[in-house]
Amino acid sequence: MKTILVGPIRELHTLAGSGGARRRAEMRETARLQNAALVIAGGRVREVGPWSVLRRAHQGAERVSVEGDLVTPGLVDCHTHLIWAGNRSEEFLRRCSGVSYQQIAREGGGIATTMRAVAESTEAELAANTVTRAKLLLGLGTTTVEIKASYADRPENWLKELNALAKARRKIKQQTVVTFMGAHVVPPGWKRQAWIREILRFLFTASTHLCKPAFQDVFCEEGAFSVEESVRVLRAGLRVGLGAKIHCDEFHALGGVQAACRLGATSCDHLLVSGRKEWAALANSETVAVVMPGTAFFLDKPYARARKMVDAGCAVALGSDFNPGSSMVPSMTFAMGLAVSRMGLAPEEALVAATVNSAAALRGAVREGVGTLAPGAPADFCVWPVGSLSELIYSYAFVRPTQVFLRGRQVLPS
Ligand code: NIG
Ligand code: FE
Repeated sequence: MKTILVGPIRELHTLAGSGGARRRAEMRETARLQNAALVIAGGRVREVGPWSVLRRAHQGAERVSVEGDLVTPGLVDCHTHLIWAGNRSEEFLRRCSGVSYQQIAREGGGIATTMRAVAESTEAELAANTVTRAKLLLGLGTTTVEIKASYADRPENWLKELNALAKARRKIKQQTVVTFMGAHVVPPGWKRQAWIREILRFLFTASTHLCKPAFQDVFCEEGAFSVEESVRVLRAGLRVGLGAKIHCDEFHALGGVQAACRLGATSCDHLLVSGRKEWAALANSETVAVVMPGTAFFLDKPYARARKMVDAGCAVALGSDFNPGSSMVPSMTFAMGLAVSRMGLAPEEALVAATVNSAAALRGAVREGVGTLAPGAPADFCVWPVGSLSELIYSYAFVRPTQVFLRGRQVLPS
């Protein structure tokens, strides 16, 4: 087996530590090493340590020099709606002139606009768009990405999205995790009970589809699905092996967080308007609290109170929510910068939230050790053209990795 020695690295954050989601003070533990090296074999991290020691111990190894000072694990984006068609630039401009996201939805736009565009696209077009977007994410340092199939307006189009994802996955370099989201909104022309019945009927097909969905997600919100409907659909998904995720407290706190925690949901996502009760429910459960500052930024809404959530004991993770309506914000470093500058997290907390904790929001569906560079972990990592983690956060509006490695192989520049 070929051994690769990567270094010298000025500042390496391995994120080694206890497995699973980190909370409270552990959220600042990034396992930082200076003047370090990584030893890789078989696509996995074999050893981490001082450059001076590992250089001597592995003299016969292939050398890879890093073109930057900072190395982190590849970023994990646990929440995207990467498969979509068309764009919502017109609606965006209406929002900029003061019309709300919800008003546009009430007029039959918003998510329904994208559903129509997906209905008009072919499977091949959807697959190609998704591959292009995954490439964009890779260039921004995202090495593991969750993708929600969330814009179908009838069962045939659920299949079209899932087939397109099966095709796209073969070309996407990163590790992908598929989530089925039939319960996004009730599409125009459907009665809600009929739509929910279709979802319940489709779940088994979804769970056995070639693209291997690991989760199901529901949008629990006024104008989308009630808490009761969300629980009913998620429970049926759990019975066929789809882990539960829920969009909640984006605009209204309906009680979806508490219900999802009781159900053992893997994550609750958005949490913009959550307060003490919701934070307590999350803190007392295994459910990961996913915050997505890109959405608040793009919708110009107040940010989720991530500082309070960490202090309350929630396992906070970061996602991009990249989608054509509420978050045209694909970059996880941008999310990390907002998490620090707008939500009060420390740089170390933002890095944990974008790696280890984001991987915990995908638990069961990603390889062991994803989000870390501890010995045994997949060797997915980014080299950044900055001197330190603080500088990475400070440069959040434009920073991109100079090199990206997946399972020990350099994929960028290719
Ligand atoms: O996570 N909130 C619901 N779903 C997406 C928005 C999707 C869209 O507007 O197209 C979200 O924000
Ligand atoms: Fe979302």
